[in-house]
Amino acid sequence: MSSQTKTIGEMLEYGQMLFENSDIYFGHGTDNAWDEAVYLLSSVLNLPPNADRSLLDNSVSDNDQEKIAALFHRRIDERVPAPYITKQAWFCTLPFYVDERVIVPRSPIAELIYNQFQPWCIETPNKILDLCTGSGCIGIACAYAFERAEVVLSDISPDALEVTAINIDQHDLNSRVSAIESDLFSAFEASVKHSFDLIVSNPPYVDADDLAKMPDEYSHEPDLALASGDDGLDFTRRLLREAANYLTQQGVLIVEVGNSSVALEKAFPQVPFTWLEFTEGDGGVFVLTQTQLRQYADCFGDANK
Ligand SMILES: C[S@@+](CC[C@H](N)C(=O)[O-])C[C@H]1O[C@@H](n2cnc3c(N)ncnc32)[C@H](O)[C@@H]1O
Repeated sequence: MSSQTKTIGEMLEYGQMLFENSDIYFGHGTDNAWDEAVYLLSSVLNLPPNADRSLLDNSVSDNDQEKIAALFHRRIDERVPAPYITKQAWFCTLPFYVDERVIVPRSPIAELIYNQFQPWCIETPNKILDLCTGSGCIGIACAYAFERAEVVLSDISPDALEVTAINIDQHDLNSRVSAIESDLFSAFEASVKHSFDLIVSNPPYVDADDLAKMPDEYSHEPDLALASGDDGLDFTRRLLREAANYLTQQGVLIVEVGNSSVALEKAFPQVPFTWLEFTEGDGGVFVLTQTQLRQYADCFGDANK
């Protein structure tokens, strides 16, 4: 681009034009070229996500113009999701540190957190588990939504848990949010059985076909966070077998499975999954109560008996 002084608005139009003429895929925080340009430009100019449109006429220094243009080109050339470039993602209007050790937060579960999981959590949960926590976004947002709750974040990936720890620190939540490395519940102590009022999980659930077809941007995310066997349900099957043992009697399990919901219904036709509706996003999130998990234990296998 030419080196004459540009305004913020002109830089954004430039980014928009570059992105619209590229084959990048939107799906990691934005869904269009303009917002993607805003996201990257804002990180260089330190603008908040809700910056006022009156800033569009402000001029951008030559140095910042170069930095912004470099980010636009990196986004296109490397097909790297914008939050990995800026090292920041937003979830439930909260900022989270992210890098390639965790996926970029985007779960529709955010909407449930805003609504404090109503009407599924009849009473305010005292103890919450965010299973498959990655950056910690779901559990940390739950800690904000339920100011007295103790929240446990767990993940199988030590790399992901390093990012989780950064976010617990940044949100200053060490007094009631803890993290544990565990393959599902395998490292949980017996003493935490039947102690969680709410288990919420966005586990890996991409099936083998979808995984092979995903846009390049997803190749920057950890495989462990996406893939879950041929039908995308390897993890969820195990979770359904074991979750009741960690929930209180009134406890509730909320799990995102995306479009693997079709395979899940097919695998367990007898089970009355409640599928949640969202104002934004595709859904693919179900609720089962501890009572239902016990009732259908035979379908899931014998760990619930
Ligand atoms: C789809 S990501 C979700 C991350 C985060 N909850 C979010 O919504 O952004 C799934 C996470 O599950 C973790 N995971 C995969 N298999 C697991 C297992 N067997 N036990 C616990 N965590 C697992 C991955 O390391 C990854 O961080």
